[in-house]
Amino acid sequence: MPHHYFLADTDPTYRDNRRMIESMTKTVRLATRTKIIRIPVVVHVLFHTDDENIEVSQIESQIAALNRDYRLHNTDRSQIPAPFRPFATDTLIEFGLAVRDPEGNATTAITRTRTSKAVFPYDPSDPLATKKLDDMIKFSGFGKAAWPRDSYLNLWTCSLGGGLLGYAQFPGGAAATDGVVIQNRAFGTNGIAAPPYNLGRTAVHEVGHWLNLLHIWGDDDGACSLSDDVSDTPNQAGSNGSDVRISDFPHITCNNGPHGDMFMNYMDYVDDDTMFMFTAGQLKRMNATLAGPRASLSQSAGLTPVDTPALAPETVALATALVRSTVGDEHGDPPTREFDGVRWV
Ligand code: ARG
Ligand code: ZN
Ligand code: CA
Repeated sequence: MPHHYFLADTDPTYRDNRRMIESMTKTVRLATRTKIIRIPVVVHVLFHTDDENIEVSQIESQIAALNRDYRLHNTDRSQIPAPFRPFATDTLIEFGLAVRDPEGNATTAITRTRTSKAVFPYDPSDPLATKKLDDMIKFSGFGKAAWPRDSYLNLWTCSLGGGLLGYAQFPGGAAATDGVVIQNRAFGTNGIAAPPYNLGRTAVHEVGHWLNLLHIWGDDDGACSLSDDVSDTPNQAGSNGSDVRISDFPHITCNNGPHGDMFMNYMDYVDDDTMFMFTAGQLKRMNATLAGPRASLSQSAGLTPVDTPALAPETVALATALVRSTVGDEHGDPPTREFDGVRWV
């Protein structure tokens, strides 16, 4: 958020973009979307030590966690207090590691960059803090340049200082810095991910910002005056942190009784094991983003496999002849496993 205010104060284009996006979000009444949107993802791993060069399985666990939570497949949704249960929503948004890179070639959608920074420093009192991080993380030198944001969600993962778990850029910002940065020990659910941030929910929260969700308390530090511009999340004073557990429900602030804060929402600051839901109202903002400033992602080729070249006809003829001569004749043992042409079963 400080970064957002810094940009809004100093960058007139960003200010105009944000104004336009917000007025569009409020005025355009989109029909409920029934089709799943799949977002191609690229993960940029920045590492200094070898253990920070996280394994593919940790990256895949983060993608799985995004899909679990955005599709409301998380089993801990059963812990949503009864009065808030009707608001929990399947966003019909899915994420996948891209299989086609910006040049049209096949890809793992994982880039790995060794960096001389042992940790990317973060000073929360510096209004320029995330701008300074962007300059290091999202450009070559210490980091890695973004893939085109029109076609990909860029996720960077690295060691962040100052207790920062992650940060995101709202729609309307610069292309070169568009995307989400996540601390590598709060990334995914295995590998070097560590409690209490090892359920992949830092990325769930930050991707929420990237889709234009605001903090559920409205970033007014307890004043009860600002909101998240979402009608089905109760007005809430400030953020709730690790000290607020699900057993603390109802947690009342801003006269929002009897049910109090919806602190188990992904856009609060509770621990990973205490956040379980997005609401229908939040989905409206995300849908406005996906139909507006991020509409091009639906046209991305990032998740379309690059065709495997077909075999030459002579090769096919030869292979067919060979198969006839070796399989299915009377005297051989029957095959114990079957081959369906793609995989052994
Ligand atoms: N930007 C927030 C931070 O760095 C992210 C909080 C995510 N919360 C979580 N439980 N994973 O503190
Ligand atoms: Zn946030
Ligand atoms: Ca609200």
